Amino acid sequence: MSRPDRFERAPDGAASTAWGTLADRVPSDPVEADRFADELLGRLTARERLELLSGDDPLVSGLAEMANHYNRRPIPAGAVPRLGLPGIRFSDGPRGVVMYRSTAFPTPMARAATFDPALEERIGDAIGVEARAQGANLFAGVCINLLRHPAWGRAQETYGEDVHLLGEMGAALTRGAQRHVMACVKHFAANSMENSRFWVDVEVDEADLRDLYLPHFRRVVDEGVAGVMSAYNRVNGTFCGHHHHLLRDVLKGEWGFEGFVMSDFTFGVRGPRAVESGLDLEMPQSMWFRRLPGLVRRGRVAQRTIDEAARRLVRTQVHFASRGEPERYVAGAVAGSEHRALARQAATRSMVLLRNDVVDGGPPALPFAVDEVRRLAVIGKLAARPNLGDRGSSRVHPPEVVTILDGLRALGERLGVEVLHDDGDDPDRAAQLARSCDAVVTVVGTTWRHEGEWVARYGGDRASLRLPDGHEELAAAVGRANRRHAVVLMGGSAFVTDALDDVAPALVMAWYPGMEGGHAVADVLFGEAEPEGRLPLTWPRATTELPPFRRFARRITYGPLLGYRMMEATRQEPAHWFGHGLSFTRFEWTDPRAVAVGPSVDGRRAVTVEVDVTNAGERAGTEVVQGYVAEVLGTHRAPLHTLRGVAVARTIAPGERRTVRVELTVPEGVDQVAVARSAAPTDRRVVRLHDVG
Ligand code: BGC
Repeated sequence: MSRPDRFERAPDGAASTAWGTLADRVPSDPVEADRFADELLGRLTARERLELLSGDDPLVSGLAEMANHYNRRPIPAGAVPRLGLPGIRFSDGPRGVVMYRSTAFPTPMARAATFDPALEERIGDAIGVEARAQGANLFAGVCINLLRHPAWGRAQETYGEDVHLLGEMGAALTRGAQRHVMACVKHFAANSMENSRFWVDVEVDEADLRDLYLPHFRRVVDEGVAGVMSAYNRVNGTFCGHHHHLLRDVLKGEWGFEGFVMSDFTFGVRGPRAVESGLDLEMPQSMWFRRLPGLVRRGRVAQRTIDEAARRLVRTQVHFASRGEPERYVAGAVAGSEHRALARQAATRSMVLLRNDVVDGGPPALPFAVDEVRRLAVIGKLAARPNLGDRGSSRVHPPEVVTILDGLRALGERLGVEVLHDDGDDPDRAAQLARSCDAVVTVVGTTWRHEGEWVARYGGDRASLRLPDGHEELAAAVGRANRRHAVVLMGGSAFVTDALDDVAPALVMAWYPGMEGGHAVADVLFGEAEPEGRLPLTWPRATTELPPFRRFARRITYGPLLGYRMMEATRQEPAHWFGHGLSFTRFEWTDPRAVAVGPSVDGRRAVTVEVDVTNAGERAGTEVVQGYVAEVLGTHRAPLHTLRGVAVARTIAPGERRTVRVELTVPEGVDQVAVARSAAPTDRRVVRLHDVG
C-alpha cells in the first residue's frame, strides 16, 4: 500500500458543523419550510443579505491557504451566526470528497465506462455521507461538460462525449449525494478547454448549444440539483458568470431552476454586475461583490436583485438542512471499508478490454490462466505508483492507495503466482525480465503531469494523444520479448495506440482507477472479474479527423459534430467506437423488437425495446445494450445516430438467454431505432416501431 502524503483527518464532531442548529429548526413540510426561509430572510439586515452572496474567507489569507492546500476543510460562504444560519460549506469533487482524507473513487470518465447510473448513485450517496460527516453541506463535484475533444485536460472529470450518458450519470451522482448534502453541477456552459479557460470565447450556434451542449445540464436541473457553477469561459462573447441569456433566460427562466448559481472560483466573476445577469454567489471570497453595497446605495443595482439572490440561497439551504441520515455521519464511514469496497467495485466495473487477440494460435491473451502463468513480469513505473488523476481542484487525498503492483502481488500470493517488477527505465533489462516469465503486463499512460487542471503549468490540455515519451518503445521492447503481453493503459481520456498494434495482443484501459484500483486491474487480468467497461468516448486513430482544438485559443467554434456522431457524418472508422468494450465470453443477440411505444410528450415518445441475449461462451459475462436513434441535432441537417437509452445486463451465465429491455426516447416521426454494442454503424440491429400500438 502506498500512502501518498501526510494529510489530516476531519476534527471530531465535524458532522454537526454542516448545518449547525438549522437542521433541527427547519420544518419538514416544504410549504412550512418556505415560510421559515422567508421569516429568516425578513430578519436579515440589508448588509447581511448582501453578505450571503459571497464566500466568507478573508481575501489574502484565504487565497494563500487555498494555494497551499486547496479545500483542506469546508470553504464557507454566507454564514450568519446571529441567526444560526451556517451558510454554504463547500467541498469539491468529483473523484470523491476533496477535504481531509476521503475515499478516492475512480474518476468520472472511468465511472462513465460502467454505463450504470445505479452504481453512480451509490457513489453519490457515499460521497454525500463523507462530505456531511466532515462538516460540508455542498458537494460541488457534478462535472458534466461534454467532451468535445479528447485532448481536454479535464476529460477525466466528466462522463464523456455523449449527451445522454452525461445527463444520466450526472443526475445519478446528484440523486445520491443530495440525500445528504446539496450538490452543484458544473461548469455551465461549453467548458471543455483547459489552458485557455479564463479567456476563450466559445462561438456556438444557439441550435447546437440547445441540442448538444446544454441538454445534460437540463437533465440534472430536472433532477433537483441545488446549485449550478458558471464556467470561466465566454460563450458568444460574454463570460458565463455574466451571461444573462444562459443564466436568466435559459436556466432560471425556461428550465425553472430554483436553486442558486455560484461562480467558478476567483476568475469566474469579472465585475459586481454579474448579479444582475443571474449569478447569486461569488466564490470563494468577496472580490467584486464587496462593491454591491455602494452600487445598491447609489441605485445602480436594484435591491430586489440582491433580495432574489438571497432568497435563492436561503431557501435552498433551508430545504436541504432537514435532509439526511445522521447516524451515518460518523468518522468511521469516511474511507471506511464499505466505501472502499464500493471504490473497488466501481474500478473493476470500469475496466475496458479494448483488444484481446489470440497468442500464437492458442487462446486469447487474457485472462491469464493460473496453471500457465506461474511467473508474471510487471513492467513500468506507473505500476508501482499511486496514479489517481490530476492534482488540481479535484484532487482527493485517500489514506492509502493500492497500486497495480500491490494488487497483482496480493492476488499473486493468493493464486500462487510469482510477481516480479521492473520500472522500465532500461527497456532491454525489462525485456529480459519479460523473457524469463510466463506472461508480462506493461503499465503505461499519463499522470497529473500530462493532463488535468492547468495549475502552476502542470497538467493542462494534452499536447498529443499519443502515450508519453518512451512508453511506446518500452511496450514494444517488452512485447517482442514475450508474446503473452497485456498492456494496461492509465489515463483520463483516449490514446492513439497504433504503435502497440503488433506488440500487445491484449489492451486494457484502466483509467485513473482510484484508491482500490490495483485490485481491480489484477482481478480483470486473471479473470477473477469480467471486463465490464465500455468506452464513454471514441478513440481515434493517428489519422482520424477530430473537431479543431488549439490549446491557447482566444476564440473557437463549437459545432454539432464531435465523437461518434462526427465519425458517422464524416464516414471515418476510429480505432475504437464509443460504447466499445470486449468481454471474456461471447454473446448472441436475437429478435430485437419494440414492445411499447408511449404517447408523444414535448415531441418525443418513450419506446421500449427488447432483445434476447444468449451467452454462447464458457464464462459468465456482462452485456451493455445501447439504444440509438437517428436524429437531426443542432445545425447538422442530416440525421445521425445518437444514444438515447442503455441497459446493463450483468453476469449472464454460460448458456443463459436473457431478455434485455432498453427504454429510449424517440422524436415524433422517427419510425425505427437500433440496438447495438457500440456506436459503430456495423453493430446496429434495426428495430421498427410501426408494429407496436
Ligand atoms: C475549477 C472548479 C472548481 C473550483 C474550485 C476551479 O478552478 O474550475 O471545477 O470547483 O476551481 O477550486
